[in-house]
Amino acid sequence: MSRKKIAFFGAGNVGGTAAFLCAIKELGDIILLDTADRRGIAIGKALDIKQSLSVFYADVSVIGSSDPEEISDADVCVILAGSPRKPGMSRNDLFITNHQVIESISGAIRTFAPDSIVIMVTNPLDAMTYAMLKLCRFPKNRVIGMAGILDSIRFQSTLAELINCSTKDIRTLVMGSHGDEMVPVYDFSSVNGVPITNLLDDVSISESAQKTRDYGGEIVKLMGTSAFFAAASSVVVVIESIVRDQKRILPCSVLLEGEYGIWDTCIGVPVMIGKDGVEKIVEVPLPRSDLFKLQKSAEIVKKITTTNNYY
Ligand code: 2OP
Repeated sequence: MSRKKIAFFGAGNVGGTAAFLCAIKELGDIILLDTADRRGIAIGKALDIKQSLSVFYADVSVIGSSDPEEISDADVCVILAGSPRKPGMSRNDLFITNHQVIESISGAIRTFAPDSIVIMVTNPLDAMTYAMLKLCRFPKNRVIGMAGILDSIRFQSTLAELINCSTKDIRTLVMGSHGDEMVPVYDFSSVNGVPITNLLDDVSISESAQKTRDYGGEIVKLMGTSAFFAAASSVVVVIESIVRDQKRILPCSVLLEGEYGIWDTCIGVPVMIGKDGVEKIVEVPLPRSDLFKLQKSAEIVKKITTTNNYY
């Protein structure tokens, strides 16, 4: 049986960590790609990952390169390239810089991996996912933005600490854009089915939601660069659901065409992810206030894309 091929554009912190996790989980053969001036980093990290594999009894190949042809016929392309945030920057400040980067990547994907499923991680996530969809001209099921899983696990971790229980039992749903307007949905967050509203007072829940929004920025302040362990782990969840056709229902940024009353915008909503990428957009009955917040966050994403000549 042939193995899947997973290409990572960007051998930085998130790319390297996600590649390592995919390799030890034997999700497929790995190509770690970066620009010519960072070729050494891509090759070096690939070698380092490869040398760790015997510890995990993992049989996959790991190659580092700066040659886009290496991604030929990849099943999944993960885009992490671009600048991370610097202290004081919002994710949206990165649009122009990172758009140039993904423009050239989209050309490589169209040429060498035209049947792949693209996972966007580059910020500002929702606007970048929309831009990639337009640049690649792929059907909408084959371009997925990963952020909602990261936001949901951050909310999970905050709630677990507050309730003083295991994160294993906590389910959360964070929808909307990956930014200050994200929408943690309390009604769909529970401890093994027990609504969090039965376990915590309103103030504590909204403080947890705010912490969830702030964690990305807080980590940037602490480290001088973006978070990567939780981000990489979240990317791997999407990759695994595709290559193992798990059909998991996960919050991801996808193109909406009327769902939730939102048109022509990529935004985080629950979707089923399987071998064909986005196999279903799941419309959950949101409380009115959350639906309003979701639509508001979509308007902000739309504004970024239209201001930058996407429509
Ligand atoms: C975050 O840490 C990387 O945007 C990402 O939230």
